[in-house]
Amino acid sequence: SKNWILMATARAPTNIAVIKYWGKRDEALILPINDSISVTLDPDHLSATTTVAVSPSFEKDRMWLNGKEISLSGGRYQNCLRELRNRAGEYTDENKGIHIEKYDWNKLHVHIASYNNFPTAAGLASSAAGFACLVFSLAKLMNVKEDLSQLSTIARQGSGSACRSLYGGFVKWTMGNEMSGSDSIAVQLANETHWDDLVIIVAVVSSRQKETSSTSGMRGSVETSSLIQHRAKVVVPSRILQMEQAIRNKDFSSFARLTCADSNQFHAVCLDTSPPIVYMNDTSHRHDLFHNYRIISILERWNRHEGTPMVAYTFDAGPNAVIVAPNQKVAIDLLQRLLFYFPPARDNELSSYVLGDKQILH
Ligand code: PMV
Repeated sequence: SKNWILMATARAPTNIAVIKYWGKRDEALILPINDSISVTLDPDHLSATTTVAVSPSFEKDRMWLNGKEISLSGGRYQNCLRELRNRAGEYTDENKGIHIEKYDWNKLHVHIASYNNFPTAAGLASSAAGFACLVFSLAKLMNVKEDLSQLSTIARQGSGSACRSLYGGFVKWTMGNEMSGSDSIAVQLANETHWDDLVIIVAVVSSRQKETSSTSGMRGSVETSSLIQHRAKVVVPSRILQMEQAIRNKDFSSFARLTCADSNQFHAVCLDTSPPIVYMNDTSHRHDLFHNYRIISILERWNRHEGTPMVAYTFDAGPNAVIVAPNQKVAIDLLQRLLFYFPPARDNELSSYVLGDKQILH
């Protein structure tokens, strides 16, 4: 019969890198030139929810993002779908009279519906949550019996940073050595309960799409920046070890020092690219007051004044600031400072201080 339909649903949060991934050694397989470490946010605030379905009545693979149909023809989607179909398992439901052989998955078509609980246009690494969720839900539907690190090699081929969103807590993406990418996987360093005093605040500066995509930005940096070579070969390997230790020991002052330094070096590499890539200070017309360098200088001044880091800041390939506080008390102090220096305009979407991770403030 052609009347059956099987479905699976999953949710995956986005993640924020504290040691950044920037630069690919293989663009098709998405293999990085350095390891990276991230923290996965709380799914209540910045996550993707994806429902996938399979039925013999579906005539082709289709996908809807936030209710709007999008094309699956891009190489990234095709690579993920192919990798998953190659690993699909058989499935039987005698009650419903469904029997799918391993190889049937190459003939069956899937429908994918994904929603972000946060505006896609906000430049908040929605592709990380999106591809992690797509791969996880399809793996469930297709009865793929692989562990998360194996699934991470598939999510990686959708969007590099997506491989880190398969786990909660702190996650490391090891660059690997193999040409095939088989060892370029994500591993969990510590789960979400390990350091649960931390509060992550995402200050949404602009809802504008970033001007330089991470793909073309990375290509430019790899081709033209000399700083990126030093960063990948010398700086990051040592920072990865220090960051792992800081996370293990819940050493906030080392964590903050490394996080801020790495964000600033990533943006220095961008500026060292020809033509230069400027992600910082890329504010929207509505939030002109919120300049990235102003927020950095306010936070640096605060940290210096206290004699020990109060907060860590980090910026990705867009203007939004991610700030990490060691606990609720400091987070509240931070929010008061943010609201003082950057008072919300009457018309803006400022709920804009979105709070991530375990501790949620409203
Ligand atoms: O995975 P992509 O292609 O969206 O690249 C992400 C790059 C950064 O967000 C800037 C850094 C990172 O490690 O997430």
